[in-house]
Amino acid sequence: MSENLPLVFVHAFPMGAAMWQSQADAVTDRRVLAPALAGFDGRPRLDEPAMDGYARDLLGALDTAGIGRAVFCGLSLGGYVLFGVLRLAPERLAGLILADTRTSVDTPERLAARRRSLATAQQQGPAAIAEEMIPGLVGPTTHATRPHVAAAIRRLIESQTAGAIADGLQAMITRPDSASVLARVRVPTLVLVGSEDTITPVSDAEQMHRAIAGSKLVVIPAAGHMSNMEAPGDFNRALLDFLDAVPGDAGRHRPGIQNVP
Ligand code: MLT
Repeated sequence: MSENLPLVFVHAFPMGAAMWQSQADAVTDRRVLAPALAGFDGRPRLDEPAMDGYARDLLGALDTAGIGRAVFCGLSLGGYVLFGVLRLAPERLAGLILADTRTSVDTPERLAARRRSLATAQQQGPAAIAEEMIPGLVGPTTHATRPHVAAAIRRLIESQTAGAIADGLQAMITRPDSASVLARVRVPTLVLVGSEDTITPVSDAEQMHRAIAGSKLVVIPAAGHMSNMEAPGDFNRALLDFLDAVPGDAGRHRPGIQNVP
């Protein structure tokens, strides 16, 4: 019997590891890690904020934890960082879960909004960023029926520093288009998206699903961008079903997946 591979969660902007609590509780058959990105949850900031800088730092944290290959799950910013992992070290991935994310860069309007948010973060701090972001982060169903989820997300954002938030914005502003990295995906992949996500809508998820051969797409009903917190039951069911289908350590010998040296 081969052992189940570790599962690594990569958080959204501008949250921290705690956004994955319900998933960490649900996955009991393997080692689960949710490392905070550089600058978040009190971790040291990057010298130069950039998406591949976050990816490099994440890989370093996994090295320290003794993790070589793993199944990676990234939501939104977490997905952007995983595209960096695919650029830098695709051999570290044994399985991939892309939730509420997209490969494309920002539109000019979105870039302008990010620059305004940068000024807000620096001048008014995390509470003002939370106020600005909460309306779009969760879907109408959550706004109407699960106000505690929006409140929890607000607390997560307010617990971060203005510096971490500014770095995240800077890294998103300068991130490269990642459509071409999807062609490098040779591992089982699950694409998840909330049906009410307006930041990275279902059409983005469908695009990634089409680009990754053999991937599975699951649309989570009545959830917005923070689908894992808004609809943890449906999210976890899709996650656990997927994990059951990912080969364990024996899978490292399959063609197309390189060993970690
Ligand atoms: C996130 O959830 O990580 C951000 O909303 C992503 C983005 O703004 O592009």
